[in-house]
Amino acid sequence: MQSEDDRHDEVVHFLKVVHAFRQYEAYAISANTRRRRDFFKIPPEDGALLEKVGWKSRLDKVDDLIHENAKVLNQLVANPTIFMDENELAVAEKELNGPSHGHSNNHHHDHGNRSNHRHSTSHSHSHNAPGRYQASSSDMEKVRSTLKQFVRDWSAEGRAERDACYKPMIDALLRRFPDEENRPQRRVLIPGAGLARLGWEIAYLGFESRCNEFSHFMLLPSYYVLNEIKSLNQHTIYPFIHSFSNATDSESLLRGIRFPDVLPSSLPPGSNFSMVAGDFEDIFAPKSDPEEDETGQWDAVLTCFFIDTAKNIVNYLRTIHRILAPGGVWVNCGPLLWHFENSDEVSIEVSLEEVKSLATEIGFVISDETTIETSYVGDDRSMLGYVYRAAFWTATKVEG
Ligand SMILES: C[S@@+](CC[C@H](N)C(=O)[O-])C[C@H]1O[C@@H](n2cnc3c(N)ncnc32)[C@H](O)[C@@H]1O
Repeated sequence: MQSEDDRHDEVVHFLKVVHAFRQYEAYAISANTRRRRDFFKIPPEDGALLEKVGWKSRLDKVDDLIHENAKVLNQLVANPTIFMDENELAVAEKELNGPSHGHSNNHHHDHGNRSNHRHSTSHSHSHNAPGRYQASSSDMEKVRSTLKQFVRDWSAEGRAERDACYKPMIDALLRRFPDEENRPQRRVLIPGAGLARLGWEIAYLGFESRCNEFSHFMLLPSYYVLNEIKSLNQHTIYPFIHSFSNATDSESLLRGIRFPDVLPSSLPPGSNFSMVAGDFEDIFAPKSDPEEDETGQWDAVLTCFFIDTAKNIVNYLRTIHRILAPGGVWVNCGPLLWHFENSDEVSIEVSLEEVKSLATEIGFVISDETTIETSYVGDDRSMLGYVYRAAFWTATKVEG
């Protein structure tokens, strides 16, 4: 049972995410204004050349596209009371914006998009009235990432990434459970589901599909896509306008991405698709109430770019193993980019060989191993691209 303090912290955290989405426009415009200011700092004849090649007019276009992005992002957080109680939100709002929690309105944040960017672009500027809550730069980065996550999961442009990762996972599931008639009885869990496209595809095929996700930066947009979208390609977003680095041309930077490429509401009648919000380790921990205990309840667990979010990988593996029914299958795809490495949190970083040995010790038999080359929320028109050589396997539960 959640304590009152924990509940309050959760509501405050949620509200911070809502504010981050709402402040996107001001932050992004401010970053673009920095470019304009710098334009006036260089010799006028250099500026004239930049105008001639179209650099200056690009800034105006970027402003326009920021406004377009903001229209979409604001819709994601238009009704926070769907998720949290109105009174609790009011208390949290007071805490964030109340006089005792005033923030300086002169702060630093980094609008560089890439961790390996050589030039830090920290600068100070103000967006809000003194005393108003200001989203952190890391939260603003998460908002910008959400735009890219829409590309991965819900646009035609994201298809190559989805085909690289989700398709082999789905194929592995279908190989294990080929009998179409029994699919509604097969329970499939997708922890760390992001924007839920993999889970949606599995529900579309007729399985019972449940996504689990703990980040409000993912839960708010996935709720919107799954429940509020009315038509194909309803929205156009501009995810690549926030950094001008590694760009080949203006058109690539300014290009719009339409979503969704499928209508989320087009699941066949009787489909069984759900999302459970919260921490994977908490939700699927053993429970004394048999009604709540998930031990042995799942036929398949599909983890895509997820297991490296573990602080303690051993507990992730034990949890996946325990919640699977005997003979159940765990399908994994990911690169072991340990999320908590070099943080203040506990972080046990193990190699691929060690993950597989641990899984075997815990009671899995690993098969169908392969390596999948793929980007993750990549921009295929950028001069910078990361390719992960993600490990893929199917593992079957045997008693450990
Ligand atoms: C790298 S993303 C992968 C998202 C998605 N599977 C995909 O392939 O696009 C990892 C996701 O796991 C979520 N996550 C991390 N730790 C989690 C936890 N303990 N419980 C639930 N979700 C978690 C993150 O919020 C994030 O959305």
